[in-house]
Amino acid sequence: MIIQLYTFDAKSSTTTLFLAFVLTMGTFDDRKVSPPTATDGEDDDLSPIEEVRLTVTNTDDHTLPVWTFRMWFLGLISCALLSFFNQFFSYRTEPLVITQITVQVATLPIGHFLAAVLPETKFRLPGFGSKSFSFNPGPFNMKEHVLISIFANAGSAFGNGSAYAVGIVTIIKAFYHRNISFLAGWLLIITTQVLGYGWAGLLRKYVVEPAHMWWPGTLVQVSLFRALHEKDEQRMTRAKFFLIALICSFSWYLVPGYLFSTLSSISWVCWAFSNSVTAQQLGSGMKGLGLGAITLDWSVVASFLFSPLISPFFAIVNVLLGYALIIYVIMPLSYWGVDLYGARRFPIFSSHLFTAEGQKYNISAIVNDKFQIDMQKYEEQGRIHLSTFFSLTYGFGFASIASTLTHVAFFYGREIYDRFRASYKEKEDIHTRLMKRYKDIPNWWFHLLLLVTLVVALILCTVLNDQVQMPWWGLIFASAIAFIFTLPISIITATTNQTPGLNIITEYIMGVILPGRPIANVCFKVYGYMSMTQAISFLSDFKLGHYMKIPPRSMFLVQFIGTILAGTINLAVAVWMLDSIENICQDELLPPDSPWTCPGDRVFFDASVIWGLVGPKRIFGSLGNYSSMNWFFLGGALGPIIIWLFYKAFPKQSWLPLVNLPVILGATGAMPPATPVNFNSWIIVGTIFNCFVFRYRKQWWQRYNYILSAALDAGVAFMAVLLYFSVGVEDIGVSWWGTDGEHCPLASCPTAKGINVPGSGCPVN
Ligand SMILES: *[C@@H]1O[C@H](CO)[C@@H](O)[C@H](O)[C@H]1NC(C)=O
Repeated sequence: MIIQLYTFDAKSSTTTLFLAFVLTMGTFDDRKVSPPTATDGEDDDLSPIEEVRLTVTNTDDHTLPVWTFRMWFLGLISCALLSFFNQFFSYRTEPLVITQITVQVATLPIGHFLAAVLPETKFRLPGFGSKSFSFNPGPFNMKEHVLISIFANAGSAFGNGSAYAVGIVTIIKAFYHRNISFLAGWLLIITTQVLGYGWAGLLRKYVVEPAHMWWPGTLVQVSLFRALHEKDEQRMTRAKFFLIALICSFSWYLVPGYLFSTLSSISWVCWAFSNSVTAQQLGSGMKGLGLGAITLDWSVVASFLFSPLISPFFAIVNVLLGYALIIYVIMPLSYWGVDLYGARRFPIFSSHLFTAEGQKYNISAIVNDKFQIDMQKYEEQGRIHLSTFFSLTYGFGFASIASTLTHVAFFYGREIYDRFRASYKEKEDIHTRLMKRYKDIPNWWFHLLLLVTLVVALILCTVLNDQVQMPWWGLIFASAIAFIFTLPISIITATTNQTPGLNIITEYIMGVILPGRPIANVCFKVYGYMSMTQAISFLSDFKLGHYMKIPPRSMFLVQFIGTILAGTINLAVAVWMLDSIENICQDELLPPDSPWTCPGDRVFFDASVIWGLVGPKRIFGSLGNYSSMNWFFLGGALGPIIIWLFYKAFPKQSWLPLVNLPVILGATGAMPPATPVNFNSWIIVGTIFNCFVFRYRKQWWQRYNYILSAALDAGVAFMAVLLYFSVGVEDIGVSWWGTDGEHCPLASCPTAKGINVPGSGCPVN
């Protein structure tokens, strides 16, 4: 089993890291495998995939109500709350993403509660004929619960946090200090989020219905739903546990979130060596290599990589390998060893852009009135330089996308091909047959959706072209790329759970074709990359609905409404925060304890400068300093082939296929914006729970692990918002040593001879 690859900018970490829990499948061992019902009873009906047979029931009660008041109420509220929280958090230094799992766990007791207290009276609604309606049509059932969590999934933009296109609005307003109208922003967000649904719907026949397209990631959800619903007698203890953990997490976050923020990154090495640049570069958890840095703040643990409690141990090991290799082997070698690309002229760990002399590059100065590059001013400041760490992460991004392609081709090519062929020949399995009972979605729904979205997007690119810069052919080209890649990549995801992201490829292509226009480049990236990602998430949700026997039309409506609602709330919250928080996202102007540094948007902004404004030719091409980075594409592509050849030569070494190069190379894909303290604490907490507790306290793990994760997320989220509205708006700060950041002022000093940054407090070189 393989984990989802982290793609490159953190905002784009495709779907969540819910791994195929197939490895830990034994966990829910109290699960009964229900025999097929009498009418559907031949064995050859069963799914050909063993994991599916073990996880998904073969029965369906099609009388269960799904369009209930409870479903709409909890679903819409979860979607709205999640899109609010996730957008709110996306600007924070530790942008916690609250995922579907939290809602899945938290809404269960509420659903049962509503089923217990709502009146059961039936009434007739005029215009609905003989159908009667009730606020409470019986016990809270699993199908309602699935739909609620699908709503929630839309609210967390399938685990991305918020709609990707909101990043465009953010960088225009907060980084370029220009403006984009609310209407243009809204159309951009909604069209990028739903464009992919149009063709995804048409592909359901190929990647949802066949049993061989089994979507390993969705089985995690199925087992969680079943675990939550099938052990009714323990409902109370679980709910109580959730509540207690929630209150603890809520109260504790007052300490690192307000009273003692230094606990967020305990970089004790810096405290011990307060005058040594080298020690602070090594020890700073946020601006250095994070040696020994830990945290007592859940939002730091779970921010960029999602909760460690929901990642199985082998995935944690792969991430640990990649992280240790890059941060503790390659980084020291390239900084102190070979001084790669003039590493010592810049901070060791930074996502800012610099001039050759180690000063911050003034990007506003090279943008002209037409929001394009001003070549004369660019020549004045010279080439753009990256900190060595940042340039290396681009290199690893290149390598990881290339290695995903060859890894999948060599290790899974055969399996994918066989499964795809089998899916043509096979009989319908029991799940597809049970789904036949429900009205299918007519294809014209999807045709219409596709047509309307394309027309609206075309209007955006032509009539409102001054806002988005992208020419109409850019939209067509981006949609074509996304469309062509959707089927192959969804087959890869459906059989192996890996989703290669197209972001680097799309920005590279557009940067070569049309350099000089930053917004055109990010729009192209968002249309090309996001519509494919959305299509795949949509299909994955559909497979979940398929396994859980949710009527397809309800699935579609819930996804569609959820996506529109979430995108609208994301944008409204973004505009509100960008307008109301002074100097948001400008870390040099913010006070040291301000949480509003927007690390993810900074990386998105850098990408718009590198690929759009300046163009890859002047960075990674013949006119740039970093052209050797392109070798990473080749290295990444060859790596898995070498491992595969070794495996063919020594087939007894069964650990060889477990060396998952895409995961190892992509391990640090979340960095930047993630920093070493996030990785340290994520790895430690994940190891404790998914290695030790999982192995030695299995019962506890099985009962409470996910619930603990959800409660910690929810507690932090509520306290952070409460703090913002109580003391944040009024700016009532406490101020002492413990709220003054992590106390590593020297960590970002350059160390090359003759490079000095005025006013930085660094020793003179
Ligand atoms: C950057 O350039 C702009 C335009 O030339 C100027 O107004 C601004 O003060 C500069 N900022 C810095 C930090 O030098």
